Amino acid sequence: VASRPRRHLLRDDDLTPAEQTEILELAATMKTDPFALRPLAGPRAVAVIFDKPSTRTRVSFEVGIAALGGTPVIIDGRAAQLGRGETIADTARVLSRYVDAIVWRTGPDARIEEMAEYASVPVINALTDGFHPCQVLADLQTVVERHGRTAGLTMTYLGDGANNMAHSLLLGGVTAGMHVRVASPDGFRPEPAVLEAAQRRAVETGGSATVLDGDGRADAAAAVTDADVLVTDTWTSMGQEEDGLDRTAPFLPYRIDADLVGHATPGATVLHCLPAHRGDEISADVIDGPASAVWDEAENRLHAQKAVLTWLLGR
Ligand code: CP
Ligand code: NVA
Repeated sequence: VASRPRRHLLRDDDLTPAEQTEILELAATMKTDPFALRPLAGPRAVAVIFDKPSTRTRVSFEVGIAALGGTPVIIDGRAAQLGRGETIADTARVLSRYVDAIVWRTGPDARIEEMAEYASVPVINALTDGFHPCQVLADLQTVVERHGRTAGLTMTYLGDGANNMAHSLLLGGVTAGMHVRVASPDGFRPEPAVLEAAQRRAVETGGSATVLDGDGRADAAAAVTDADVLVTDTWTSMGQEEDGLDRTAPFLPYRIDADLVGHATPGATVLHCLPAHRGDEISADVIDGPASAVWDEAENRLHAQKAVLTWLLGR
């Protein structure tokens, strides 16, 4: 794999459709032979900073960087000087002298944009308030495994349409040529600018991006009718615990349960980035049943992120 000029992965549409395909193919190859490529041998180091909790992202990056021959440097952002007021720009300049890439889970997207502006190494978004592109690469890899392709398939996301997963599924899904539908209660719909970006990208790929504007169970059922992939996520994202909004009642009609899955295409796949709340956004019989691909999806975080690192840093 050839080296590239510095590139970042801050949101899903930072990758062109061709680049996304290249990364997904690399991820599939790496899954087959996990230790064949060692682009981080040296070892080259990668900083992975967490301002919010994590299980999957933390472990898959640490294991993946080591498997590529590199050294992961896992940093609790709250315990670093960044957490007590050192600027993002200064942190970016200093870390760039030690490591070959910076992976960051933080809140406002403006923070990771600032890190990318001042870093001289690639910056990878490991979840912000706005986007979760590493997760969606793993989701798309899982869709390819289950359905043999992404292009032309319909993927419906139900729940909080204004969160990072909804935004990334819109952008990443249309980049993969999918028809992406979002069904959410009023007040929890995607950022218009993200929807517009997804619709522009869809023109290139033959996909589409649609936000349903009805409300309640009929809206949810219409959104999943003939869908090949159903996706949901927590109704309360990290940092929203005290936002004062009712994050239960408006969402109840959008729960993925067996009745809703019954409206989808037979053989449809159910995804959830995890952590899950059985009985809230998804019923136990669905997430623990045959339509669910959530454990493969979680595993694919490892392969997809190794592919991203190899694509960005490979020599
Ligand atoms: N899906 C996901 O990003 O999980 P973690 O919060 O455990 O990293
Ligand atoms: N939307 C969720 C995703 C967790 C992986 C959150 O931001 O908390």
